[in-house]
Amino acid sequence: MSNILYDDQVKYLTLFRNESELLTKEMEVYAAKNKIPILDWMSAEFLEQLITISKPKNVLEIGTAIGYSSIRIASKLRKKGSLDTIEKSKNNIKLAQEYIRRAKLTSSINILEGDALEIMPRMDKKYDLIFLDADKEDYEKLFYYSLMLLKKGGVLFVDNLLWHGYVAANSVPDSFKKSTKFIREFNKMFMNSTELQSTILSIGDGIGLGVKL
Ligand SMILES: C[S@@+](CC[C@H](N)C(=O)[O-])C[C@H]1O[C@@H](n2cnc3c(N)ncnc32)[C@H](O)[C@@H]1O
Repeated sequence: MSNILYDDQVKYLTLFRNESELLTKEMEVYAAKNKIPILDWMSAEFLEQLITISKPKNVLEIGTAIGYSSIRIASKLRKKGSLDTIEKSKNNIKLAQEYIRRAKLTSSINILEGDALEIMPRMDKKYDLIFLDADKEDYEKLFYYSLMLLKKGGVLFVDNLLWHGYVAANSVPDSFKKSTKFIREFNKMFMNSTELQSTILSIGDGIGLGVKL
């Protein structure tokens, strides 16, 4: 259950959930069973809507994991749209490749293998939408690299900005103290950036939405 919304609200919204895609449902089960963090379903639906509305041509994702959000993004792209997605875990890359093959989306998803901290400074392609979903301690640097690669008017979509509710809590479990500090610092930077029009929405685990000015 969410630590952001009340349980009753989540239960109610779940009644309307579109679960027609068997493959992504299977991936959600696999991720939960193997403790692989993936985008919350409400955030994924919101991201899909955003893709449909904004019709991005070039999308960059930082943090592929098993390819769940990659598949959800790519399935909403228009014909000429494509997704580059960066992942450093070899094991996750293997799983993502297999799921992407099964989703028949190999032609629109390009996995860039390696650490985004090394890959992004060498990139010169510009993107209409960037989805940041990597290790929290990397967020600050990846934020600056994302700004460099984002087109004017482009959208930066960032997951986990409410961090299970801990960013707003007085007491944080020891195991989350460090990551909570990173997210709190990130949120200040994200909301005060003069390069973005930014907002944080209480969807899923907290979504940061920034439009490049
Ligand atoms: C939260 S998961 C991504 C979930 C995925 N976006 C989804 O919703 O289906 C984070 C992933 O980012 C990868 N990762 C974290 N930091 C990274 C970095 N600096 N470079 C590349 N991959 C990174 C991790 O290995 C992990 O697979």
